[in-house]
Amino acid sequence: MAKEKIIVTAALPYANGNIHIGHLLEYIQADVYTRFLKSLGKDALYVCASDMHGTPIEVNAKKAGESPKKFASKFLKEHQKDFASFLIGFDNYYHTDSEENKELAEYFFSELRKKDLIYTKKMNVIYCSSCERSLPDRYVRGTCPHCATTEQYGDICESCGIILKGIDLINPKCSLCSKTPIQKESEHYFFKLKKFSKTLEKWFNDKQSGIQPEMRNWLNNWIKKGLEDWCVSRDEPYYGFEIPNSKKETGEKKYFYVWLDAPIGYISSTKNLKKNWKDYWYKGNVQHFIGKDIAYFHFLFWPAMLMAVGIPLPKLTVHGFVNVNGKKMSKSRGTFFTAKDFMKDYSAEALRFYYAQSLDRKIVDIDLNLNDFKAVTNNVLMGNLGNYCYRVLTFAEKNYGAVKEVADGKEEKELIKKSEKLFAEIERSYSEQDYKIVVKKILQIADLGNAYFQKSEVWKDKDSVESKAKVGFCVNLARNLAILVSPVLPEFSDKVFVSLSEKKVLWKDLGFTWKGKLKKVEKLVEKVEIVETAEKFPLQMVVGQIKEVKDHPNADSLYLMQVDFGKKLGKRQVVAGLKKWFEVDELVGRKAVFCANMKPAKLRGELSEGMIFAADDHENVAILDVEKSKLGDSVQFSGMENETKEITFDDFKKVKMMVKEGNVFYKEKKLSTKVEDVTVSGVKEGCRVH
Ligand code: MSP
Ligand code: ZN
Repeated sequence: MAKEKIIVTAALPYANGNIHIGHLLEYIQADVYTRFLKSLGKDALYVCASDMHGTPIEVNAKKAGESPKKFASKFLKEHQKDFASFLIGFDNYYHTDSEENKELAEYFFSELRKKDLIYTKKMNVIYCSSCERSLPDRYVRGTCPHCATTEQYGDICESCGIILKGIDLINPKCSLCSKTPIQKESEHYFFKLKKFSKTLEKWFNDKQSGIQPEMRNWLNNWIKKGLEDWCVSRDEPYYGFEIPNSKKETGEKKYFYVWLDAPIGYISSTKNLKKNWKDYWYKGNVQHFIGKDIAYFHFLFWPAMLMAVGIPLPKLTVHGFVNVNGKKMSKSRGTFFTAKDFMKDYSAEALRFYYAQSLDRKIVDIDLNLNDFKAVTNNVLMGNLGNYCYRVLTFAEKNYGAVKEVADGKEEKELIKKSEKLFAEIERSYSEQDYKIVVKKILQIADLGNAYFQKSEVWKDKDSVESKAKVGFCVNLARNLAILVSPVLPEFSDKVFVSLSEKKVLWKDLGFTWKGKLKKVEKLVEKVEIVETAEKFPLQMVVGQIKEVKDHPNADSLYLMQVDFGKKLGKRQVVAGLKKWFEVDELVGRKAVFCANMKPAKLRGELSEGMIFAADDHENVAILDVEKSKLGDSVQFSGMENETKEITFDDFKKVKMMVKEGNVFYKEKKLSTKVEDVTVSGVKEGCRVH
């Protein structure tokens, strides 16, 4: 009998940024599941791809002066590297702008047409004449028509939570160029989603569908509110597949909306890997893992499309979001880790273990608390599981070099019985994707092993036949632990198998009869130390010396200053509004504090490559004093690190610093260089620095 074929997927990450530890939850969750299925001997494939299409990628590529293909391909490569470093064992990692995906997207679309599920309709879109593009809702800002809050995106009002369409906004502005867009009529393609309301509802209320109860509630609510047909086309410029015949039919080229071809990417990644991809999709089983933010697409649009082309419906598992230290990941709190950042300080398996012990099939957010992470890694992963395996394998190798006997007295028989019961429970929990229980029970087995080894006191009587056999039993238990935990910790397990000279050890190899030669086992777990990441201050503040001051040719209140920032940053021109306050002589030769990461801008026709900081109480203005410091020295608030990435004038204006007792403060933190505190004189206490 042919083996059941299973496809496992994780969502296709946008090729518009790097993978971060939030993403990794899902890729690890799906990876553990696939590795488990493979250990059972199933024909399971883990396929994924980078999601290359859509407006943000097109816009950002343009900003970077690259073609969208080139821009997205760079991230595709980064994604592949990052996933590999976290031991995510994809069978195929592809991209959605592929030939296979184009063909399949066109196939899906033509099938939908054949079944009369597509129609075109004229609609109003928002168009920016200056950018020459239709604007997706996210790219329009304006005032919420419901609660009058300004500066809201066109998709949702963050203040009152109402769902909007870009055209609803009062006084809308293009968020790319800030000009006022116009409304324009454009003909678009629609998919008759409404028609599927009943079938979808039936599907997710069917127990067989395996849908998580929280999800079922949301879905029933969405259905109750009523589904709307889905616009599946986008106007030029767009990075995506052109809709065949669209120009003829609508007068303009139209493209498939990224969410039409993205899920098809799951299939095309399989097709790229396997000639017999249809056996998996039409006759096998598909298991998707996704985050709660993309449930709408995966539970409504995607199944409806699958039904329309006659592909059986998938199983879906939804997970919550990752928070760090109880809050949304944030750059300024130092809790936004890209995969690469995280790898610098910690290890892949520590994160895999931490996520596994926090995951079950409930849709809840998961907190990566760094202190807890340290405790779990050092005390549990290392202290319990790692320590048992390492201790036993090292002891056996050093003293005997092999296992020739395995004890099987009364005590061992009892332990075997307990363990086998746990093996079955662990297998069931993996199948139910309840990794919390998996880890808990694996640790119970390690506890049993630790207690047995401790009690045996074999080190007191190393060379007795009895001791050798007891250690043989312990080695078998370590081998079983390595098999059980291999979906979560593939490297850990491989190191154990290498020490036993075994390859490809599967679930069916669990048991207590292993004998053979032993090699020295490598260190199994790295200890973690929490690296305190300094809070980031958005401005790069540095010491510079004013070398030359001239009047601005076109502005009465401005000076043009030539400022020396030392070797690394060089000489720069800074435009400053200081003329009212200082004579040229008072400035030339002075050292002061400057902002060096502002986007260079022309002020009345003169380039300014920095800003000078000054305290201002509306009567007097004072420059910050840093006489003892060297040119180019960093000026920092205590315990904070300066950002060096370029910022805009708007970002600059947001920072609130003030004078207190002759020094400069930001959130109770004092400003200083390596050698001195920054001082200010001649202005009132409490005045602002900007
Ligand atoms: N490109 C779409 C998916 C298309 S699937 C046909 C997309 N990409 S994404 O890069 O934004 O997100 C990829 C996955 O990562 C999603 O399932 C998303 O829920 C998940 N996560 C992104 N940030 C996350 C956290 N902070 N925490 C947990 N998962 C998160 O959406
Ligand atoms: Zn514009």
